[in-house]
Amino acid sequence: MLLAMAAVTISALADEGMWIPMLLGRNEADMQKAGMRITAKDIYDINNACLKDAVLLFNQGCTGEYVSGEGLFLTNHHCGYSYITMHSTVEHDYLTRGFWAMSREEELPCPGLTATRLVRMEDVTAQVLAGVTAETSEAERSSIVERNIKAIARRAEEGTHYKAVIKPFYYGNQYFMYINEVFTDVRLVGAPPSNIGKFGGDTDNWMWPRHTGDFSMFRVYAGADNKPANYSAENRPYKPLKHLEISLDGVQEGDFTFVFGYPGTTQRYVTSDAVELAANVENPIRIDLRTIRLKHYKDAMEKSPAQRLKYASKVASVANAWKKWQGETQGLNRMNAVEKKRGYEERYQKWAADKPQYYNVLPQLHEAYGTLRPIEVELIYYSEGVRASDFMQRAQKYSQLADESDALKIIGAVNRLKEDNKKYFADFEQHSAVDRAIFIETFLYLWEAGHAPYLGEKAPTKAAVEQKLGKIYDGSLLNNSKKLASFLDGYTEKSAKKLKKDPALGLFEMAYAQAYDPQKIAKYKSTYQDIQRLMRIYVKGMMEMQPDVNFFPDANLTLRVAYGHIQGFNSFDGARYEAFSDLKGIMDKENPNIYDYVVEDKLKELYALKDYGRYGIVEEINDSTVTETPDGMIIRRTHKVNNHMPVCFIATNHTTGGNSGSPVLNADGRLIGINFDRCWEGTMSDLLFDPDYCRNICLDIRYCLFIIDKYAEAGHLIDEMTLVSSK
Ligand code: ARG
Ligand code: ASP
Repeated sequence: MLLAMAAVTISALADEGMWIPMLLGRNEADMQKAGMRITAKDIYDINNACLKDAVLLFNQGCTGEYVSGEGLFLTNHHCGYSYITMHSTVEHDYLTRGFWAMSREEELPCPGLTATRLVRMEDVTAQVLAGVTAETSEAERSSIVERNIKAIARRAEEGTHYKAVIKPFYYGNQYFMYINEVFTDVRLVGAPPSNIGKFGGDTDNWMWPRHTGDFSMFRVYAGADNKPANYSAENRPYKPLKHLEISLDGVQEGDFTFVFGYPGTTQRYVTSDAVELAANVENPIRIDLRTIRLKHYKDAMEKSPAQRLKYASKVASVANAWKKWQGETQGLNRMNAVEKKRGYEERYQKWAADKPQYYNVLPQLHEAYGTLRPIEVELIYYSEGVRASDFMQRAQKYSQLADESDALKIIGAVNRLKEDNKKYFADFEQHSAVDRAIFIETFLYLWEAGHAPYLGEKAPTKAAVEQKLGKIYDGSLLNNSKKLASFLDGYTEKSAKKLKKDPALGLFEMAYAQAYDPQKIAKYKSTYQDIQRLMRIYVKGMMEMQPDVNFFPDANLTLRVAYGHIQGFNSFDGARYEAFSDLKGIMDKENPNIYDYVVEDKLKELYALKDYGRYGIVEEINDSTVTETPDGMIIRRTHKVNNHMPVCFIATNHTTGGNSGSPVLNADGRLIGINFDRCWEGTMSDLLFDPDYCRNICLDIRYCLFIIDKYAEAGHLIDEMTLVSSK
């Protein structure tokens, strides 16, 4: 019994947690016990330059780290992807061939890209909740909080060039303000060819062992005063308060390591109902619907290089979450997550029995999830099913046009649609085959699951529904390039009527009405707000129930520290995974016929010559020749061989989406890698962390340097960096 109780506690487990830098003092002893040789103040300090000054938020979804005093920073290739693409043309295909600025003049401006530095953070709970009492209604509470947040942020920004952001923690039990400095002149400096930066592609995504050289480099520029400035040729490289030292010492199993970055979202404290909903209802629907889409994209990609290019980025974005959801559901079920949560909830109920403020909260949450569930499911069928085809996404745009009454807006919309059509019809012939199949199959899926009654409730046959869908596709004006062009040319307010009669709009509007029924949506919103409020109380109760536990707040795209060790793992199928991968693995995986496993010739040459420079692992080899000197001394000759080129490693740091590009640091706070993914077996870590399986995947910094120096011969970039070796 006692044992069972221990198993259901959710107190902070080994390696779990994404900690607030300002409060890292609470973890310091634990971190040092785990091997860290620096202090919490070295990581976060508002009075002195510290490691946090070397970390940046890359746009609103990745992390980067400064590695030179001249504003040069590293992030992932998949984070810089759209900027590499932006600058790629047929003549300069940087995505395929790579890009390396050989001088500052060659660095490429990236309009829209921001790099944000945290200046300092502050607990503003008291100010945000000023005016809220036990009697305040929830609606009032929200408006007071919103008003206070605006006022506090305004005051903090006054007279500075900083931007203030205030975010709730623990579902609104606490609030922190972040004072940020946002840089807007950011330029692309370097990216390896896709065969390195995306090596393994979607095949290896979310998996270990991994061999992806997932990095790219950018530089931040600032005004003459070193403050943020919009792009100008006059701007100068930004001088960060701190840039990271890079360790050439390498990494060993068991080494202490921490990740410092911007994790996006986790749901660590949700109830058993929420876990059950995600794992066994939402994920399977999403997976099924995306499987249909992916099957058709992938078939098309096999047909020609042009089609491969067309669908590659689509597949990358559709497949990423698709694959993760599968790992997540498997992991949650393997861990008996729902049962574990239920056990915890029973314990909570017992504890709350004599606490009126808490004893109702779990039953109410249970009820709220009951209300939310069918509406949520309908919304997923809509977003992943109804909108799966370009055809229906286009139908939505035309439906909006037909509903528009403002003359100016109509002109704008028509012009935009004409532009869209140029691209859309350029390769319509082959794409429509793919899109038509996706459209028909997803709607058939919806119909069979009972979620498209508008396709005929009176049990028509599947073949009849299929035929009906085919007619809608083939008979729609939206798929007739000539007719559509002249229709748009002559578009007036009166055209709306004709548009409304198109079968595409007819179908789309029925499907939309089913998902977005106003009454249901109102219910959804109020239930969602209820859940937020109840979770606030529930989590507060958890903290009272377990006063000794240091609860970490769910990720919310604020700067966090996760720490653990470099460690391999035993998978559930009995396989043992080492913590490291190396260049030999790339050569083993090489297959010129499989797109994801093509290896660049130059990389093969470097491998053959073992030309790894300072970055390889040097081994002492005992020579087989043993000589005996005349006076009887035995001399065993040893020589050094630059034998291995490390590529990636894994560790037990708790990370999630947004941590991509985060610096992975060693016990001395030096850079040893760049975070970019998680292992398949541990993708449930957003909901429940399992120290046996959860591993983050990191690019070994030595491989990154090797590619820059030896592969790209861009040694001038290495010269800017601070490389440290204790050997
Ligand atoms: N799984 C990683 C993350 O969630 C990498 C995604 C990009 N790579 C890809 N093959 N789609 O962001
Ligand atoms: N690949 C993710 C990212 O892009 C990281 C993760 O989910 O582990 O942020």
